[in-house]
Amino acid sequence: MMSDKVPHILVTGASGLLGRAVVKVFKEKKFSVTGLAFSRVGPGLVKCDLTDHEAVTSLLEKEKPDVIIHSAAERFPDVVENKYEETRLLNIKTAAHIASVARRIGSRVIHISTDYVFDGTSPPYKPEDKCNPLNKYGITKWESEKAVLAEATDACILRIPVLYGPVERLEESAVTTLLKTLKSDAPQSVSHHDQRCPAQVNDIAHILADMTALIWKGDKMQGIYQWSGRQKMTKYDMILTMSRIFSLPHAHLTPSHTPSTIRPYDPEMDVARLTDLGISHHTNFEDGVKECLAVWV
Ligand SMILES: NC(=O)c1ccc[n+]([C@@H]2O[C@H](COP(=O)([O-])OP(=O)(O)OC[C@H]3O[C@@H](n4cnc5c(N)ncnc54)[C@H](OP(=O)(O)O)[C@@H]3O)[C@@H](O)[C@H]2O)c1
Repeated sequence: MMSDKVPHILVTGASGLLGRAVVKVFKEKKFSVTGLAFSRVGPGLVKCDLTDHEAVTSLLEKEKPDVIIHSAAERFPDVVENKYEETRLLNIKTAAHIASVARRIGSRVIHISTDYVFDGTSPPYKPEDKCNPLNKYGITKWESEKAVLAEATDACILRIPVLYGPVERLEESAVTTLLKTLKSDAPQSVSHHDQRCPAQVNDIAHILADMTALIWKGDKMQGIYQWSGRQKMTKYDMILTMSRIFSLPHAHLTPSHTPSTIRPYDPEMDVARLTDLGISHHTNFEDGVKECLAVWV
């Protein structure tokens, strides 16, 4: 695949939490980048409703990207629950359509998935371990992985954990929204049960850039890859970290040990398939949170 030219990359979901970081990092790496958005078409982004499959076909045939980073998806639990058919169209059928057109025009796909494909009962999970999603979001993402690989056997899947990073609103990330909880005076309980390995969006963007570089170099890259942040913590641990960093009181918050039936207890993923390739990016949680939340305190 390698030639003198720089790779042309198409990023779906470029207006989203992860996609924004991917576009930024890929541009810093001097890749040629087209970012797609739907309702938030900011400067430099191209509008495309990915559920309009004819429009997607024309756009991909025109762009002929070397690599597609497929980041767009519906991932907010309430929307997934209430608009399940629309979610399945975007998360599964659209991912499969992109993979099928990519295969035909010779583009490679890296499809973003999640640790929510696992039930969290026996970590750390290897890529080939049994999936057993506990909620509808996890079901759509697991089905999307299978649909993408069925359409394009040379596709890569990258499973990632809960994300944080620069946000447009605190509720945009399950991590940054905890600052709102911390700053509110209202007494409430915060989960000290489920274990998470949060990742900073820039780290995931760098992992994707490294994977893209290997694909571009012609290395054999296909199938399922995984990344987990290197620090395991509960939401209560995260909130205590924010309290310490920003000197905010937390006495109004009580740790809750109640298990959830719809979220995995500990979906930590084994990352050896990436680290064996020399790919590893982890920002210390304290540093990452300090950087992205300072403007919101
Ligand atoms: N956030 C997390 O903690 C997390 C954890 C694990 C895995 N993931 C996975 O990581 C990927 C990126 O997630 P994210 O957090 O960046 O999501 P996000 O912030 O919710 O962004 C979703 C993106 O999808 C786009 N989109 C939605 N409907 C569309 C449509 N019909 N046509 C075109 N684009 C559409 C949105 O565009 P507009 O906003 O412009 O409409 C937005 O850019 C997803 O595959 C997600 O499942 C996320």
